[in-house]
Amino acid sequence: MRRMTTEKEQMGMSQATRELIEKLDRDHWLSDEELLALVKAGPAKAAAALLEEKADRLRRTIYGNQVYVRGLIEMTNYCKNDCYYCGIRRSNRDCDRYRLTEEQILACCREGYELGFRTFVLQGGEDAWFTDERLEALIGEIKKGFPDCAVTLSLGERSAESFERLRQAGADRYLLRHETATKSHYESLHPETMSFENRMASLRILRSLGYQVGCGFMVGSPGQTAEHLAADLAFIRDFQPDMCGIGPFIPHHATPFGNEPAGTLEQTVYLLSIIRLLVPGVLLPATTALGTIDPVGREKGILAGANVVMPNLSPVAVRKKYELYENKICTGEESAQCRGCLAGRMASIGFEIVTDRGDVKRTQAACRKQTVGK
Ligand code: 5AD
Ligand code: FES
Repeated sequence: MRRMTTEKEQMGMSQATRELIEKLDRDHWLSDEELLALVKAGPAKAAAALLEEKADRLRRTIYGNQVYVRGLIEMTNYCKNDCYYCGIRRSNRDCDRYRLTEEQILACCREGYELGFRTFVLQGGEDAWFTDERLEALIGEIKKGFPDCAVTLSLGERSAESFERLRQAGADRYLLRHETATKSHYESLHPETMSFENRMASLRILRSLGYQVGCGFMVGSPGQTAEHLAADLAFIRDFQPDMCGIGPFIPHHATPFGNEPAGTLEQTVYLLSIIRLLVPGVLLPATTALGTIDPVGREKGILAGANVVMPNLSPVAVRKKYELYENKICTGEESAQCRGCLAGRMASIGFEIVTDRGDVKRTQAACRKQTVGK
């Protein structure tokens, strides 16, 4: 019986699944129904292996063996929201709150610059202390001090006017995970004060303002079905984000989802490969969450089609406090250690960390798309 299963796993990809993967690789497009069938076929070993091979080849065509690094600065863990999955949610009274000063943030940038970072990602909870005026001043200082660097914001939802002002101040990119493309699922992950429509509208506004935009979702979030994942993929196919952050859901004890099971490495990696094939040039991080559920999760993510890593540049003193989920890695290491660790990890799988700004390569991806069908 056992031998049968193994054989089936190795050989047993249906012809239909193989054809779906080949179509995805050829056209970088699948219909909603086809995406659902592909999600349902995964993450069986044979399908995952074929997807990974295709995604790896495509990523090498566009980005070679280069992996971009982004320095993550976790600047505040105050948050007005109460997402059911997140460890820094407002209702978590055990969370020791902090916010970095402008001087501290600039010191992180300085250290990061010396370590070769040319993108700084300012991430935080939705913290009203960071008014437009304060953020404009901060972005201005970073751009003045490090004119060859890109500034990425990951500060949640703000008004259209605020997004515009921050863009004017010099921010280049904005990461705002859509979390789930299904309204009912969104509502089961967030309290009533948060709105699915507003989330999606924010992404469109960001794009219209000229930001490079990142969306994304958690894999294995409570209540997530194959249909939800297929809808996420269809959204990504249609939105064509510049970046896409996906990682496994990991429970945090002080949240309503504290006893829910975590997402898996296999499913996350499977979805990374699909996303690479759907949006060939997308900047796709192998996330810290992926490195948290498996000691070589980030390496596996890169091998499956990811091309970005985001080492932590936050001061070590605050790292443990930015605990979105349990057992987060890299909370005890200095920035230089994380940088060195990741460079070594990437080298161990034949990849090289590069230090340019690493803007999205739209043209090459588009060229490839345009040739499809000719
Ligand atoms: N597990 C994994 N990822 C999480 N995030 C928040 N909480 C968790 C968790 N418990 C993700 C969300 C958010 C991003 C900053 O971190 O997708 O958008
Ligand atoms: Fe932070 Fe390895 S990446 S210690």
